[in-house]
Amino acid sequence: MLVAPSILSADFGNLKSEIEAICEAGCDLVHVDVMDGHFVPNLTIGPVVVKPVANIATKPLDIHLMVEDNNFFVDLFAPLKPKYISFHIESERHPDRLISKIASLGIEPAIVLNPHTPPQSIEYLIEKLSMVLLMSVNPGFGGQKFIPSVVKKAKVLKDMIEQINPNCLIEVDGGVSDKNINLLKDAGVDIVVAGSYVFGHKDGYKSAIDSLK
Ligand code: DX5
Ligand code: ZN
Repeated sequence: MLVAPSILSADFGNLKSEIEAICEAGCDLVHVDVMDGHFVPNLTIGPVVVKPVANIATKPLDIHLMVEDNNFFVDLFAPLKPKYISFHIESERHPDRLISKIASLGIEPAIVLNPHTPPQSIEYLIEKLSMVLLMSVNPGFGGQKFIPSVVKKAKVLKDMIEQINPNCLIEVDGGVSDKNINLLKDAGVDIVVAGSYVFGHKDGYKSAIDSLK
């Protein structure tokens, strides 16, 4: 299992040391939640903050857009050379076009599904995707409760991926902990995002990441 800590739960007053600590603790990706205050009821960070994060991180960035104007934000973050940019299918009218654009920028394209969105909605996009991100909470905030129906959805998606594009990874985001990690692994999930579990773990970041792996 690959682990991508969400820096939304980091101490933003000490962001440099937080990024260094999760990278030293063995994370695989650094998950960055970008919220515009429109698509979701919260506002987070732009390139002014994410650029230094990219410079400090020794692991690739996984940028999760929760925005209405995906095109605008792809242009804004592409120069930081993240490994992944993921956008929500619910906020994009032309997902096929945007996937091609992200790939043409040398970034791995990914699509995010909210808890109510069926995997069938992206069946004809899977062949062009590097990753599908399944939300296991309603997007907007860290520290929410895991929605268990994501496990069934991951299994259905895994079957689709095996038939269409076995290279496409499945990532799950929201409420992930040592309590649900085995269910996610058994469902075929490749990467988990974990915010409050990693940054709030009593035994430190390495114990948290190791326990998920
Ligand atoms: C929610 C974000 C998540 C969140 C995860 O909108 O996409 O990445 O920070 O935090 P936890 O792991 O605390 O649910
Ligand atoms: Zn996220």
